[in-house]
Amino acid sequence: MCGIVGYVGNREAVGVLLGGLKRLEYRGYDSAGVAVIGPDAALHTAKKAGKLAMLRNELAEHPIAAGVTGIGHTRWATHGGPTDVNAHPHLGDEGKLALIHNGIIENFADLKNELLAQGVEFDSETDSEVAAKLLGLEYARTKDLRAAFRAVVGRLTGAFTLLAVHQDEPGVVVGARRNSPLVIGLGEGENFLGSDVAAFIEYTRQALAIGQDQMVVITPDSVTVTDFDGNVVEVEPFEVQWDASAADKGGWSSFMLKEITEEPDAVANTLRERLHDGDVVVPELEALGDDILAGIDRITVVAAGTAAYAGLVGTYAIEAWARVPVDVQLAHEFRYRDPIVTPTTLVVSISQSGETMDTLMAVKHARELGAKTVSICNTQGATIPRESDAALYTHAGPEVAVASTKAFVAQITALYLLGLHLARIKKTLPTGERRAMVAELEAVPAKIQKTLAVHDRVRQLAHWMADTRSVLFLGRHVGYPIALEGALKLKELAYIHAEGFAAGELKHGPIALIEPGLPVFVIVPSPRHSEEMHRKVISNIQEIRARGARVIALAEQADAAVLPFADEVIALPLAGKFFEPLIGVIPLQIFAMELAAAKGLDVDQPRNLAKSVTVE
Ligand code: G6P
Repeated sequence: MCGIVGYVGNREAVGVLLGGLKRLEYRGYDSAGVAVIGPDAALHTAKKAGKLAMLRNELAEHPIAAGVTGIGHTRWATHGGPTDVNAHPHLGDEGKLALIHNGIIENFADLKNELLAQGVEFDSETDSEVAAKLLGLEYARTKDLRAAFRAVVGRLTGAFTLLAVHQDEPGVVVGARRNSPLVIGLGEGENFLGSDVAAFIEYTRQALAIGQDQMVVITPDSVTVTDFDGNVVEVEPFEVQWDASAADKGGWSSFMLKEITEEPDAVANTLRERLHDGDVVVPELEALGDDILAGIDRITVVAAGTAAYAGLVGTYAIEAWARVPVDVQLAHEFRYRDPIVTPTTLVVSISQSGETMDTLMAVKHARELGAKTVSICNTQGATIPRESDAALYTHAGPEVAVASTKAFVAQITALYLLGLHLARIKKTLPTGERRAMVAELEAVPAKIQKTLAVHDRVRQLAHWMADTRSVLFLGRHVGYPIALEGALKLKELAYIHAEGFAAGELKHGPIALIEPGLPVFVIVPSPRHSEEMHRKVISNIQEIRARGARVIALAEQADAAVLPFADEVIALPLAGKFFEPLIGVIPLQIFAMELAAAKGLDVDQPRNLAKSVTVE
């Protein structure tokens, strides 16, 4: 939530900040603002409710001074509605300093009361302004931005990334983080700060990740990282693997469409360098040690949203291959149920952003309980992989559209790699079968590519259904999480009531929802894998059809049995039992996107959502 950019160097800061905010807008988009120290050594700010375009318009109409030091923010409201006044930056020291914040300052009410008692006046309803005003008072006392900033961060509780500039110290941006993200981009005669590397990828791929409870001071020629007590700490540089164009829309009408078409690559790149001689060897897991992995007797996946559904898909294959019980827990529920975690439990977190606060807290809790932790993450330098014992990166490339698509298939791929790696170490799957699974995995990108050809057909369906108010999704076995994901996509993008059910559960209640004309997507498993399961799903289709539902079946090409009972059939390439979800999800993603488009909605930035949810 909230995107943060800081810049100091020789370029015009406003341009750099707006470019960075554009790439971070997925983090929040209900208001945006910038602050720049001008050549007149005064602070200039502009902020506006609405998407970044509103701020751009404002700056076009009322340009602010050209300066080379500045900070920028794109907001997802927590405290105080999305108004111009509540937008960041917030000011202190009589308008001489500006501060931006991502996270929640939990003790803001106490601090605000303290400041009000001292006669400090507030403009906004935000928790963030408290930090700005505190910093103002500290600066007035110390006349030293670093010292004042350190004093302020020491007083805050909760989660925060803060950046600040003061007009009396041009050429300096200070930043700090606790439980919210902040990375540094290293340039020549210029340096950058950002919520993630996308903020500065246009200018540099050399980056530093700041640890928890650390502070940074950047000038054009220096970067100093300290802890909150002011002790200098060494931070490891890393090279960003994404290239700048990957985070651009290119010629596509939306990021989501672009990202769906990138799904074959997302899978192929995630497999790369992890398959050797037809077998799976994941170097990142080797770092954990074979003995430890061999002793794992339980796996708990923690994740939220789409990542949790990827986890659910993964449970079936990992249990089958590695013969370890696997359960998925929503990250935000995990801590509160007194989970059973032992040193032989492997807690696998899944997070595209690597910053989801619920997931981060679940990982920390698991570590406190002594579990081994593996992070499946798509964003280099993010917090969750750095807080885990091992990180298995998905190489889906930057995902900008808020609703996750290519990260989902990459996450399932990573889970399958984990499952096969474990199966090899635990000797639970004969080499031949492991190799057969590897061959299936390698064939997935081409099958997804083929599946993308259903786009026109699915678009037509979506247009016919543009007025639909409710849609159900049914699946069995690995088709069940795909039903859940299909429903989630539709809710997120098209704001339609949608629910996913295990097909077998239908008769236990949800069948009461069926009424004439209700569209129901049914994910039909291949009869080649289980005739019984296939037969049961066909029976389910008949049950709902008999009650007037309009059935849209997703079935493999050769499945003629489904034809007489479905109103529409979307034919999919043949795939192995565990690999059907990687293919079946594609038409559902396209359907949600096209239905949203048919309703004239913004598919990249649905209302009320943020891609990276860094509050609990
Ligand atoms: C938010 C997003 C979802 C995403 C979830 C988990 O709710 O809107 O699209 O699936 O967070 O995000 P993560 O970055 O942890 O995968």
